[in-house]
Order: sequence, then C-alpha cells, then structure tokens
Amino acid sequence: MLVVGCGGDGMNVVQGAQLCGASKIIAADIVPTKLSWARDFGATHTLQQQGEELTRAVLELTDGIGVYHAFVCIDPPATLLPAFRATAKAGNVVVTALTPDTVSEIKIPPLELFTSQKAIMGAVYGFASPRVQIPELLMLYRRGALKLRELITKTYRLEEINVGYADLQAGKNLRGVMRFDA
Ligand SMILES: NC(=O)c1ccc[n+]([C@@H]2O[C@H](COP(=O)([O-])OP(=O)(O)OC[C@H]3O[C@@H](n4cnc5c(N)ncnc54)[C@H](O)[C@@H]3O)[C@@H](O)[C@H]2O)c1
Repeated sequence: MLVVGCGGDGMNVVQGAQLCGASKIIAADIVPTKLSWARDFGATHTLQQQGEELTRAVLELTDGIGVYHAFVCIDPPATLLPAFRATAKAGNVVVTALTPDTVSEIKIPPLELFTSQKAIMGAVYGFASPRVQIPELLMLYRRGALKLRELITKTYRLEEINVGYADLQAGKNLRGVMRFDA
C-alpha cells in the first residue's frame, strides 16, 4: 500500500496498515524527517519523490503492478493523479486530505479510470463510529499495539501557539499538542 503525506493523518494510515498486516507499506513525503518517523511507525519503504517520479518509484517497488491501496493524505490536487497511477488495476485510492473549496475539480483521465477499474473514494475519520472505535483504539494502545505518545513531538503552552503552527509548517513536528495546564 501507499501513503502520500506522512503528517498526523498519513502516519496513522501507516500504523493502521501495519496493524492490518500489510506486507509492503510505502510512505511518501517531501520532508526527510517524516520519512524517518514513518519507518518507526511501520513503513517498509520510503520515497521523497513527487508527481510522475513518485508513480515511477512505486511501480518499480511493486514489479510494475502498483499498490492495491493508496491513501492521499495531503493536497489531492497535486497528489491524487500520481497516487492513482501508482495503484494497481482494480485497486482503491482513498482520499483523506481536504481540498480548499476554491478548488472545484481534480483531473483524472476518464479512459484511464474506466480501463483500470480503480475506485476513488473519500474517508473522514476512517468511517469510524466514535462509540465503537475509540474503545477499540484504547484497547490497542493499552496492549502496546497503537503508538499514540510517539505521535506527539512537542507540547506547547497557549501563548506558544504560533510557534506550534510554524513548527508544523516547517515539518518539525508530527503532532504538536497545546497544553492548558502547563
Ligand atoms: N479524513 C480525515 O479524517 C482527516 C483527519 C485528519 C486530517 N485530515 C486532513 O488530512 C490532511 C493532512 O493533515 P495532517 O494533519 O496530516 O497535516 P500535516 O501538516 O501534519 O502533514 C502533512 C504532510 O504532508 C507532507 N507533504 C506536503 N506536501 C506534500 C507532497 N506534495 N507530497 C508528499 N507529502 C507532502 C508534509 O511534509 C507533511 O508531512 C489535511 O487536509 C487534513 O485536514 C483528514
């Protein structure tokens, strides 16, 4: 499987893939630190490429077949087509990232969509029902199967909120957490 964008969202896709037993977990990001963290979270391969180069690199890693599941976890207008093309025939492409409402279309060649029989779908919070999944996630955490603490790179006081956002933009933290009691 392929995850494009290994921030807080994509990194949990990486660990979800590991929990589901995926044998090849390819993580793609433009920031090297994120790729290194992705390996800690279960990625078996990491790629810094983007666009057509990313598609090529994923096809090379999968003997020209592509991945059966691709997750677009950042900037769909830029990353959906490369991820779609890196997906195997009849595979799934899941879009978890938001696109600004000023963007009204993303181009996918219709003939490619038809002949490749791939599915493109959106997912919000993994289709979760909080009543069901939060207890399940807590159970996995207590068993040591789910990394939660490791997602938090740094904590910030409320007056440091702008530093937190700057660190996020600079790719310095995976998750910055605001503490109101510090
Ligand atoms: N569907 C959901 O339930 C859900 C949940 C949380 C977040 N989101 C959405 O997911 C998206 C990502 O959120 P986040 O919290 O992970 O953000 P983030 O800023 O923590 O992570 C984004 C990651 O994408 C990387 N990146 C940027 N451009 C890239 C590119 N061209 N190719 C590869 N990697 C690239 C960045 O280096 C960073 O590691 C946002 O749109 C957010 O709103 C959706």
